Amino acid sequence: MSIRFLGTGCYLPPKVVTNDDLAKLVDTSDEWITQRVGVKERRVSVNETTADMATKAALAALEKSGLEACDIDLIIVGTITSDTLCPSVAATVQRNIGSQGIAFDISSACSGFMFSLETAVAYIERGVAKNALVIGAERLSKILDYTDRSTCVIFGDGAGAAVVTKGENYLSSTMYTSGNDEVLYIPDNVGLSPFYEGEEQKRCVHMDGQETFKFAVNRITQDIKTAAEKANIALGDIDHVVLHQANIRILEFASKRLKIPFDRFFINIDKCANTSAASVPIALAGLDASGKLKRGDIVALSAFGGGLSSAACIIKW
Ligand code: UT7
Repeated sequence: MSIRFLGTGCYLPPKVVTNDDLAKLVDTSDEWITQRVGVKERRVSVNETTADMATKAALAALEKSGLEACDIDLIIVGTITSDTLCPSVAATVQRNIGSQGIAFDISSACSGFMFSLETAVAYIERGVAKNALVIGAERLSKILDYTDRSTCVIFGDGAGAAVVTKGENYLSSTMYTSGNDEVLYIPDNVGLSPFYEGEEQKRCVHMDGQETFKFAVNRITQDIKTAAEKANIALGDIDHVVLHQANIRILEFASKRLKIPFDRFFINIDKCANTSAASVPIALAGLDASGKLKRGDIVALSAFGGGLSSAACIIKW
């Protein structure tokens, strides 16, 4: 027993920020960002919270699934940009959509949706939940330093969601964590305690781009191979690869190393940029909406990021 997908959905805030817009804030250019990252524009929230975006993606996925909010008994949100430390984004989504399901967030940076999906599978397999809403939602613009050209041009805001239920379509998965707070980290406030002596750091994304790049290419290759082996699927039989949209060059490397033709890779980085935990579910919803995804197709999902963490799974659609 595992799960099957009943519906996917996504939401992007309407405000478009182009590379030229960012070139007015930092020393960069449309040419550099397009060539080195593959992003042309990203969406940025002007007045919507992470929970607002998560709710809209959830409602879109619910509509596709044919289920009602009252049918959902589990909501998990992968996010590192919760609007409040408490309640969780998931609890706010539960209230917003009118569900009674248990709800909590998972913090695993860009792998957050994948870790949430795996958690939902475990809950469904144990019989704790029947129908789950799994969401990745981020308002990364609130943790970006718009004076740092090496990070602010890469990321965007948005949310993606999937409704899953008991089924046989989640063929295999793999997850990885290697504790590291040097390559990619986002410090929180040190707090108001008069006793704590730790130093306050800038509360924004700090990233060693090249180390993250190497980690990404190695993990994607290893994770997809591991998941495919576990599912007894040859790499050549994968019809669609839905990767975390972090850098177009990472996707190209993955295609070469895995020897899976690049036209099987779903691409939306040009329009959405890197939306961390929201990236894979937004891409999956995009592929689903494109009409290219047919019942029985083999789909590989894969993500990597802060933690350091990574995950992949193989789905028979
Ligand atoms: O979702 C989390 C996972 N994150 C990732 O997967 C990110 C992985 N890393 C990357 O995507 C790339 O490493 C970056 C896009 C972050 C950077 O690209 P790069 O090709 O690795 O650039 P670099 O850091 O080696 O920098 C090359 C040059 C430097 O200038 P100098 O020292 O050679 O004069 C940078 O200062 O490019 C410069 N640079 C820029 N120039 C114009 C860095 N950012 C920019 C920019 N515009 N935005």
